[in-house]
Amino acid sequence: MIIAVDGPAASGKGTIARALARHFGLPHLDTGLLYRAAALRLLRTGGNPASEEQAVAACDMTGIDFADPELKSEAAGGVASRISAYPAVRAALVERQRRFAEQPGGAVLDGRDIGTVIAPNADAKLFVTASPEVRARRRFDELERLGMPLPFADVLADIEARDARDRNRPTAPLAQAEDAYLLDTSSLGVEGAIAEAIAAVTAATATA
Ligand code: DC
Repeated sequence: MIIAVDGPAASGKGTIARALARHFGLPHLDTGLLYRAAALRLLRTGGNPASEEQAVAACDMTGIDFADPELKSEAAGGVASRISAYPAVRAALVERQRRFAEQPGGAVLDGRDIGTVIAPNADAKLFVTASPEVRARRRFDELERLGMPLPFADVLADIEARDARDRNRPTAPLAQAEDAYLLDTSSLGVEGAIAEAIAAVTAATATA
């Protein structure tokens, strides 16, 4: 069983994907971490995000510590959003994601293009969203928790800039797959959102 969870920044898709993985006993891949890892490598080696060639070179994942808290920083997320627009960067990371999706027994993947590009044949697809203000509030709280606080207005501006870039890039833009279940978490708590996600996946796989 392959479960695809897509959505904009701080929509709650990561929390939902992790909960689905636990519930259905499947391995989980946060695909944003791949783009963030490439971004962080680029930042740390003094590379230029405006260079597609340098961004592709940073996609070599050898030796990356996926538990590095810096991966969650706004700086890494912003550069990840910029370099993820390069077709060659997406191409460099696509195989790893498809292999993960197609492992025996299935998997849960979350990102921007899982239901549309990485696993278009997924058994269940969710598109998780929430208003920009709600998402900015969540990211603001998360950054505070992580000890990397930023003013709310900056977080909101970042979220809006990221949305625009992710939705408007020509290659694999953020978009709801035609057959995806739309889950708006704006007025849902974590438990409510998880319950609705489990119900949607159960319904999708029961009719498959
Ligand atoms: O989900 P996230 O905030 O960790 O993702 C960071 C950036 O990576 C996001 O702004 C766009 C890019 N990304 C992508 O283009 N495709 C994916 N499947 C996942 C992330």
